[in-house]
Amino acid sequence: MFDRTLWKTIADTGVVAVLVIDNVEDAVPVAESLLKGGIRAMELTLRTEAAIDALRAVKAAVPDMLAGVGTILTPDQVAQVKDIGVDFGVSPGLNPRVVKAAENADLNFAPGISTPSDIERAVELGCRLLKFFPAESAGGLKHLQSMAAPYNHLGLEYIPLGGINLGNMTDYLSTPLVPAVGGSWIAPRDLIQNKDWDGIAANAQRAFETFKAIGRQ
Ligand code: 3PG
Repeated sequence: MFDRTLWKTIADTGVVAVLVIDNVEDAVPVAESLLKGGIRAMELTLRTEAAIDALRAVKAAVPDMLAGVGTILTPDQVAQVKDIGVDFGVSPGLNPRVVKAAENADLNFAPGISTPSDIERAVELGCRLLKFFPAESAGGLKHLQSMAAPYNHLGLEYIPLGGINLGNMTDYLSTPLVPAVGGSWIAPRDLIQNKDWDGIAANAQRAFETFKAIGRQ
């Protein structure tokens, strides 16, 4: 369900930038700004009309960026993004039809979970890398560690998203349960709309420096 080499690459990157792109022409400069700051993975969400064309643009023009897709809610969207050649997909929740479509399409996929029941369903469907969403409001690191304890022998790992920022990312990355964190704080929608590429690159650099300081690489 999720290629181990890609999983490791995401862990080496440590931070995934969540993006909401309103204008297709913003996609490439955003991806380039993230790379400039040291962030090599993004989750471009399917929440806007521009999202699919934005993904196409990034795949064509920024080959060094790991182009992930977020907010995959239907099997049709799995097929659509697989056609573009995106690197991985995630969803906010666990929809078995979407997970099966991803498996059939051979799309690297991490469903969203926030309860033990979600984890068990995800495991049954063959998932090992999971998105812990919405991390902070679901109970944060403490909730993740308690919830994950019965499944530690299964080798599951969790990417927390939802309320993560520069101030709390180090805590999450202190556990081997967490290969990487993600969030929209690096390239928030208003910075993208204002075409503040330097601001995004500076945020990316701060996130990358914070990750490097943990000393995992
Ligand atoms: C996501 O889709 O993963 C979330 O929107 C990210 O949450 P954040 O905006 O709180 O970072």
